[in-house]
Amino acid sequence: MPDRIPREFIDGLISRVDIVDIIDSRYPLKKSGSEFKACCPFHNEKTPSFHVIPVKQFYHCFGCGANGTAIDFLMRYDNLGFVEAVEELARTAGLVIPYVASEGGTQQRVSPSKRSEGESLYPIMEAASNFYQQALRQHQQAQRAIHYLKTRGVSGEIAKTFALGFAPDGWNNLTQALAKYSVQELSAAGLVKENSEKRSYYDRFRDRIIFPIRDPRGRVVALGGREIPGSAASSHGAKYLNSPETAIFHKGDELYGLFEARQQQREMARVIVVEGYMDVVSLFQYGIHNVVATLGTSVTRSHLTKLFRMTPEIVFCFDGDRAGKDAAWRGLENGLELMRGNRTLKFLFLPDGEDPDTLIRKGGTEAFLQRVEEAETLSHYFFEKLTSQVDLRQLDGQARLLELATPLLQKIPQGALRQLLSQRLAAMTNSHPIQPLPAESAGQPPAKYGKASGRRPHQGGRYGATSKQREPPSLVRRVISLLLQQPSLASEFEKLPQLSTLQLPGITLLVRLIDYLQQQPEVTLATIIEHWREDEEGRHLQSIAAIESLLQDDAEALKKEFVGAMMELDNLLLTQEHDQLLQRYQNGQITLDEKDRYRQVVEMLRKKREKH
Ligand code: CTP
Ligand code: MN
Repeated sequence: MPDRIPREFIDGLISRVDIVDIIDSRYPLKKSGSEFKACCPFHNEKTPSFHVIPVKQFYHCFGCGANGTAIDFLMRYDNLGFVEAVEELARTAGLVIPYVASEGGTQQRVSPSKRSEGESLYPIMEAASNFYQQALRQHQQAQRAIHYLKTRGVSGEIAKTFALGFAPDGWNNLTQALAKYSVQELSAAGLVKENSEKRSYYDRFRDRIIFPIRDPRGRVVALGGREIPGSAASSHGAKYLNSPETAIFHKGDELYGLFEARQQQREMARVIVVEGYMDVVSLFQYGIHNVVATLGTSVTRSHLTKLFRMTPEIVFCFDGDRAGKDAAWRGLENGLELMRGNRTLKFLFLPDGEDPDTLIRKGGTEAFLQRVEEAETLSHYFFEKLTSQVDLRQLDGQARLLELATPLLQKIPQGALRQLLSQRLAAMTNSHPIQPLPAESAGQPPAKYGKASGRRPHQGGRYGATSKQREPPSLVRRVISLLLQQPSLASEFEKLPQLSTLQLPGITLLVRLIDYLQQQPEVTLATIIEHWREDEEGRHLQSIAAIESLLQDDAEALKKEFVGAMMELDNLLLTQEHDQLLQRYQNGQITLDEKDRYRQVVEMLRKKREKH
């Protein structure tokens, strides 16, 4: 059963660490007044517009809009999942996470016992990789390996970039070199195998070129070994041999070359996914750095989730043969659920008998990149594949296509791609487009805002007509943003119960936020955001926080804006009360007391209007 990290722990953690340290230790910042600045790590720029604001424990880039807490930064910069980022922060702060068992929630959680078991394997893998690298440089048998790499055109520099190594022939070279570790430890790391009959252990990798597989942080988690053609017998077996699954290696999660690619550039306009280690190494050598390989598996959802955190476009570059096409299709199926926003998935099938390595050696970098430019779109490949399985001239062929395509289309989040594919499918099968799901808010404001009431306030405070166009931020949204900017303002609210009767989109979130801030007067923006991250309504706070006015720091101006907003809220409350009383009046339900109140309200509104 997956385990959960208690929210209170995350709250405490966020108030314990300093975002400036976290960022600065990875990406140096310069102090500037009460803030810190740098050129943004997430987009290319010459003048610094990346700000880190200690009092808010928040970062914000004015150039590309990137923003968030220390956790967000780690997720994006170190390419970690949420839980991993929390774990990393906890480690920095020297805190142990008090995991609690949960009933298989929606979030994926990592079991802590498994992780601590894994921690001890990293240094072992590092030592093994170092040993193999060393052997490539100076072992007496290394000549064959070096010769082979040369025939494949691998330069010494590239061998170093990828930390390539050589496992000498023999049954216990590694066991001896790593004698300070027990065979049980080496076995847990997947480096040695047990011989059941003799009850002894022997090296898994023998007489092979070694490709260390590193996680996005650069830690060696596994090894791949390629046979060296025409050499010793003890290696015989598959052309490639990989580490088995271990506590730190799940091949469905890792991508070969990802660390190396990100050393060149953290975020890329596009990432090319190829099938082989040698393909990655070759393309890299030819100047194409944004390339990764799966480890002899198909592309998983986990791979794609990782990649989409650092690029909007993924191009599968596979063999044009049956196996390559099947692999591409499985990748497509695994990717459909992730196709939201501006993400794209493309497909490049190579000519028979070629792989990226052979192609780039024959045709060069430009020609290869040209192919990548011309990769098939997802929609094209989607229909090409499905229509090849049916006869569209027949009615039942059309029905079959609908049957095949519909469940796949339903995996795609609402948006342009899904609409496009549905329409095309409808045209091909003479049917109606698949019913869209209820409209999904594009992140912000939350769907509830749109539905709660057809009426929205104008800036002036009177109800205005609904409009489909982009509107200025609503009053509620502005107040929320002011509170995020200056949480202490929450203490100014006195009429919470009344406020919650206001029929405005977002009002329940506002009321809950005020209630929370009144109980936690000292919190920073970062704490608020982490506290509300998994809240159905509150998870939108971060995008509200990111609107520009947020980072103006003039306390006076803020206060003034806030007082203005409070008055507007007051007006709205009065107007609402007025409308309700009037209704009762007209229906003949009004009591004497209410009549008095009605007159008061009319009077108050009149006075307010006169003032303006
Ligand atoms: N693979 C594997 N086990 C095998 C064969 C292949 O794990 N027995 C994986 C490896 O990750 C390999 C990838 O599948 O990199 C692609 O295999 P293949 O195309 O056969 O090899 P290439 O990468 O082209 O290697 P080379 O060019 O050195 O032959
Ligand atoms: Mn190859």
